[in-house]
Amino acid sequence: MTGQRETFSDIESLRIAMEKANYVASAGLAMALFCALKLNQPLLLEGEPGVGKTEAAKVFARVLNTDLIRLQCYEGIDLSEAVYEWNYPKQLLAIRIAETEKHHLEEHDLFTEEFLIERPLLKALRHKGEMSSVLLVDEVDRSDDEFEAFLLELLGESTITIPELGTFGSDRPPVVILTSNRTRDLHDALKRRCIYHWISYPDIETTISILRRHVPEASKTLLSQSAATVNRIREINHLQKPPGIAETIDWVRALVLLGVDSIEDQKAPVAWGSLIKYREDLDIVESTLRGTG
Ligand SMILES: Nc1ncnc2c1ncn2[C@@H]1O[C@H](COP(=O)(O)OP(=O)(O)OP(=O)(O)O)[C@@H](O)[C@H]1O
Ligand SMILES: [Mg+2]
Repeated sequence: MTGQRETFSDIESLRIAMEKANYVASAGLAMALFCALKLNQPLLLEGEPGVGKTEAAKVFARVLNTDLIRLQCYEGIDLSEAVYEWNYPKQLLAIRIAETEKHHLEEHDLFTEEFLIERPLLKALRHKGEMSSVLLVDEVDRSDDEFEAFLLELLGESTITIPELGTFGSDRPPVVILTSNRTRDLHDALKRRCIYHWISYPDIETTISILRRHVPEASKTLLSQSAATVNRIREINHLQKPPGIAETIDWVRALVLLGVDSIEDQKAPVAWGSLIKYREDLDIVESTLRGTG
């Protein structure tokens, strides 16, 4: 193995680098990322929507100063979207040109690098550069069992076989980060190969620290009030969608835009739509915060 995985000598320096890049990582997340990097093991990040899973991978690539290669999963995703595809229009064109120029084309002439379209997984495996790339397999829970089984093979062996071209391995395998919102449980076989980390909602102090980075123009009062309010809202049972960090940032941005400096301001309720996304939730939140819930 080459020396490309020696960028950070300890967990704390990785955590600080992430923070400088505007991502507030818990000690647990920093440790999981550090281990994934050093042990060359995939990392599975799970957590509620909007807790910073995707952003963690993006910022991780940034601090490693390497490319982020992202595969967005969805139901029905197949290998032609994820791994590679043959460029049929280009192949057809080559055949036409050969016909007009009276060249003879063999079948194997059409299945060469020239006609290959790399999709994210192949791209990550064949990534050239001093550093391994970071491969983000985002929302893997949306893909189906078949695709998950394929991933398993890729993660286990770090090779991809293209029947017409051969098997591609990598001496610089990507740092793989998978994310899941847990819309379904992933198979144990996949989990077994990964380091697992659950990203929880941040506590009030951490929320303030995140907000300060995203909405620096917000006053201290607004930051601490909004962080405490969101924390309280998340403790309410039976909400359809407790607010994530993304919505919290949007909410504070909206409050600043409205010129609101304290959430007791009369104008503040106008901004609920940035934070709460269900009418029923809004009723519950408002009555709870009024002290009648
Ligand atoms: N710890 C953090 N530090 C700084 N910003 C954060 C942090 N966590 C989340 N954010 C911000 O919150 C927003 C949402 O994060 P992100 O999209 O990564 O969430 P997610 O968990 O991937 O959500 P989803 O499951 O909906 O895809 C982003 O704008 C991100 O910058
Ligand atoms: Mg995401």
